[in-house]
Amino acid sequence: MKSYKIAWLPGDGIGPEVTEEARKAVDAAGAKHEFKIEWVRYPFGAAHYQRTGETLPDSALAEMALCDAMLLGAVGAPSVKPGILERGILLKLRFHFDQYINLRPALTYKGVPCPIPTSGRIDSVVVRENTEDFYMGVGAAAEGGNINTPFEVKRELYKVSGRLSAAFSPGHAAAAQVGILTRPGIERVTRYAFNLAKGRGEKEVTLASKANAVPILYGFLDEETRRVAGEFPDMSLKIQNVDALCCHLARKPDSYGVILCPNLFGDIVSDLLSGLTGGLGLGAGGNIGDKLSMFEPVHGSAPDIAGTGKANPLAAVLCAAMMLAHIGENEGAQTIGQALESYLAESGAKRPVELGGSALCMEVGDAVVKKIG
Ligand code: NAD
Ligand code: IPM
Ligand code: MN
Repeated sequence: MKSYKIAWLPGDGIGPEVTEEARKAVDAAGAKHEFKIEWVRYPFGAAHYQRTGETLPDSALAEMALCDAMLLGAVGAPSVKPGILERGILLKLRFHFDQYINLRPALTYKGVPCPIPTSGRIDSVVVRENTEDFYMGVGAAAEGGNINTPFEVKRELYKVSGRLSAAFSPGHAAAAQVGILTRPGIERVTRYAFNLAKGRGEKEVTLASKANAVPILYGFLDEETRRVAGEFPDMSLKIQNVDALCCHLARKPDSYGVILCPNLFGDIVSDLLSGLTGGLGLGAGGNIGDKLSMFEPVHGSAPDIAGTGKANPLAAVLCAAMMLAHIGENEGAQTIGQALESYLAESGAKRPVELGGSALCMEVGDAVVKKIG
């Protein structure tokens, strides 16, 4: 029997609740299709940080590197200053393993009410660059009106170092954070997006940009993306300002296929698409790279509903299916996908609380497992 080692980082808030249901679905698919998962659970998140002062140690990264993939719930809690866990765990993982693609499909399902009436099915996918842009971590707050801070950022493709310096007069409080994009960073994600669109039988990729207001950074993005698009002569690149894109998405969400985004816009556009397909509890995602890939819902730790059972675990379940496809267990992935679709189509009043029904997190997970058989 084939066996896989999966790093499992439940994290904070609803993370443990939703990934538990995803794990159950994977194990059920394994029993059906004859593969076995060894789950290696990691405790990192708010409680561990508050107890030990540790976010994510390098020793854990070395262990995780030996796993076949990773399933992550979400990190972040109201009791910890924003950024500490998110940058210290989630972004550290993305950057360390050079997970340069954040793939976030958005699909409508039978039985799921959508906020916008559509003529067809929303079947879109955000290809979000996952290592650059305003996520580089280069920035500083001005002290006494001055910034004079050295920086060094390491990425798989390059290292960038320098000094950020500015003087404000009068010397009031201020802060600056820099967005960075590079040719190799843009090239690899653009090729990925075009190949994905091609595989989906589509002829166009939409780029979410904003060169009108941020011409240095996003003007460069447009030029470089256009150049790479030239490698795909049968296909076209549509560049749209991200503000206009959001308006079009809200009005005609079923008219998009692959949407290529720099990191920050991709974050926002993927939440919008999740909302348009019914809710964050349906938005799955994968952080894909050439080393360890990590599967994680679009949503966060949802502290407002943590512990109430109201969390919809289907995004995490869909992540599990993406993860199985990634490690080569395609039949298991399909079984989970079909089980989820058939549960949603038939669930009626027993649909997840998030979708207006009464089914609590564990009940939703159990219903999917039952469908897996
Ligand atoms: P969020 O996605 O956690 O929640 C936004 C809203 O959607 C909330 O009202 C929440 O209840 C609801 N929601 C989210 N997931 C749901 C689900 N599965 N079922 C039902 N309802 C769901 O976003 P936020 O409130 O901005 O962030 C909360 C915390 O999570 C913050 O600390 C943030 O930094 C962190 N976060 C982590 C990740 C991650 O680790 N991948 C992603 C996003 C946010
Ligand atoms: C996401 C989250 C993260 C992001 C945060 C928690 C750093 O919002 O995965 O979408 O911005 O990438
Ligand atoms: Mn987000």
